[in-house]
Amino acid sequence: MKVPLLDLEAQCGPLRSEFREAIDRVLSSHAYCLGPEVERFEEAVREFVQPASAVGVSNGTDALVVALMALKIGPGDEVLIPAFSFFATAAAVLRVGARPVFVDVDDHTFNIDAAKAASAVTSKTRAIMPVHLYGQCADMTAIQRMAKSYGLRIVEDAAQALGATQNAQYAGSFGDLACFSFYPTKNLGAAGEAGLVTSRDPGLLERCRVIRNQGMAVRYEHQCLGGNFRMDGIQAAVLGVKLSRLRAWNERRAEIAGLYNERLANAGIRLPVLGEGNTHIYHQYTIRTPHRDGLHQHLQTRSIAAGIYYPIPLHHQPCLRQYDAAGPLTVSEACAKQVLSLPVFPELTAEQIETVVTQVRAFSTTTEHV
Ligand SMILES: Cc1ncc(COP(=O)(O)O)c(C=O)c1O
Repeated sequence: MKVPLLDLEAQCGPLRSEFREAIDRVLSSHAYCLGPEVERFEEAVREFVQPASAVGVSNGTDALVVALMALKIGPGDEVLIPAFSFFATAAAVLRVGARPVFVDVDDHTFNIDAAKAASAVTSKTRAIMPVHLYGQCADMTAIQRMAKSYGLRIVEDAAQALGATQNAQYAGSFGDLACFSFYPTKNLGAAGEAGLVTSRDPGLLERCRVIRNQGMAVRYEHQCLGGNFRMDGIQAAVLGVKLSRLRAWNERRAEIAGLYNERLANAGIRLPVLGEGNTHIYHQYTIRTPHRDGLHQHLQTRSIAAGIYYPIPLHHQPCLRQYDAAGPLTVSEACAKQVLSLPVFPELTAEQIETVVTQVRAFSTTTEHV
C-alpha cells in the first residue's frame, strides 16, 4: 500500500465547491489584493492566536521580514535563532541587514535552548526568534524571561504551529510579533503563497499593516520603507474555507501521533517529546534514530513517504557559514543526521497508519541484529 507524506487531493477535493464559491466572491468584487476576504480571514485567525490580532501578508518568509522591519531591526543588530530550522528563519534576518547568531536546540523538543541563547547575548543582540518546530511551542516561559532580562524583542517563527498551545496560550501570542506560513503543505495551506503576522500590540501591528503596503498609510503617502507584502484575496478566501476545519484537522493529527506513540513505543527509535505545558499540532511527527538513512530507504522502497526536515543545519548552509555560532551546535548537527518525519496528515487512513507502523517496526527488528 502506498502512503504519501501528504494527500492534498484527499484534503481539498471535498472542499472544491466551497473553494469555488469563495473564489467567486473575489472574482465578483475584483478585490484581488487585500480587501474584504483578507480582512475576514484576519478576523477569523484572531480566534487561534487570541489575545493577539493578525495582518495577512504574501508568505511566511515575508511575514518574518515584515516583523523584523516593524521592530526596526537592521544593520549592526544581532538576532538569536535556532541552528536547526528552515532556511527562511535565517534568511529573513539577513534580508533586513542584521546578523543571525546560531543557537543550539533542545535535545528533546528540537526547539531553541533558552539557556544557550542567554549565553549568546552581546551588546548588539536585539531579538530572539524561537521557531515552534514541527508544531509545538519552544519554551516560551524561559524565552520570555531571558528576553526580559536582556531587553530583547521576541519574534515567534510559528510557521508550523497554528493552533499549538503552551500553558493554554496560543502560539503567535507570546512574542512582540509572530509569523505564520500558509504554504500549501502547512497544517493550514493556501492554494498558493500566503502568510500572516500576529501581535498583541496594536501599534506594532499597525506598523506591519503599513509596511506590507509599501509603507503607505494614506494613499501615495509613504511613511516608511515597506514592500509589496500584500495577501491575495483569492488565497484568503480559500484559507477561510479551510480554517473552519483546522481544529478538527489538528485534533486528528494529534490522534494519529497518539497511535504512533503507542505502536512504536518499543521500536528502538526516539519518539516526539512533548515540552512542558504544550499541546502539539503535529505539523510533522518526527522521530530520531541513528539508523535514519537506512529506515528512510526501507520505507521508500515500500512506497511509504517520509521527510527529512532538515538535512543540513543552518550554520552548515553554504551561504550561512560565515555567521557566528553561540558555542557548539552538537544537538542541531545530530538532529540533521537523525530526524525523520512520518506521514501524519489528517486524511491518513487506519490502514495506512498500520502500514507505516508495521514497516518501521520491521526495520527496527532487523537493525537490532546489525
Ligand atoms: C519554520 C519556517 N519558517 C518560515 C517558513 C517560510 O514560510 P513560506 O514558505 O510561506 O515563505 C517556513 C515554511 O516554509 C517554515 O517552516
